[in-house]
Amino acid sequence: MFKKAMLCVAALTMVFGFALANNALAGDKGPETMILKTAKARKPVLFPHRNHQARLECKTCHESAGFPKATNEWTKKLGHGLCKACHKKHKADGASTKCSNCHKKGLK
Ligand code: HEC
Ligand code: HEC
Ligand code: HEC
Repeated sequence: MFKKAMLCVAALTMVFGFALANNALAGDKGPETMILKTAKARKPVLFPHRNHQARLECKTCHESAGFPKATNEWTKKLGHGLCKACHKKHKADGASTKCSNCHKKGLK
């Protein structure tokens, strides 16, 4: 009886330990792509998160002053200050400042 219970605990520890490690790995990087919008949501933006992670350090965006923590906390000023300003600087690297590059049609 006691031995059986101990086996059970060991098995559970393994299962949950594995699940936790997996979550830490998957959860850390955030979504692959996401839709950013202001409270009014008139011109949402499709943001390829993973694509940017491949070439930029996390803190480039996440530690910048006024970085919005939720998709509906964006304003035009913040979005253009963070995203568009960098795209302007990195035109040579293929970044675009065309409206439709970020404001894709048909997003909700
Ligand atoms: C590099 C990406 C990028 C480009 C290029 C860009 N924007 Fe934006 N824009 C954003 C982000 C991010 C926001 C804030 C989130 C949102 O509203 O989509 C925003 C917000 C806005 C808003 C507020 C929308 C709302 O729903 O409240 C307007 C209007 C806007 N942009 C117009 C433009 C116009 C016009 C152009 C082209 C001259 C342009 N943007 C180019 C990223 C961009
Ligand atoms: C080019 C800018 C940029 C870079 C670089 C970037 N992120 Fe993000 N990240 C964002 C934006 C924008 C959001 C969405 C915030 C929102 O919901 O409005 C986001 C959301 C997240 C989220 C979801 C939870 C949250 O805070 O909203 C996680 C987790 C995350 N990022 C992790 C990372 C990690 C880890 C790296 C580096 C490997 C990284 N990001 C690099 C812009 C960036
Ligand atoms: C620090 C610089 C930097 C910041 C900040 C940044 N970008 Fe970019 N972005 C780039 C560069 C460079 C490219 C072009 C190279 C590439 O596609 O990887 C790019 C490409 C893109 C593309 C086209 C990629 C594709 O797969 O078609 C979109 C859309 C985009 N960015 C949206 C955004 C939005 C929205 C934000 C703000 C949440 C943002 N970017 C913030 C540098 C930046």
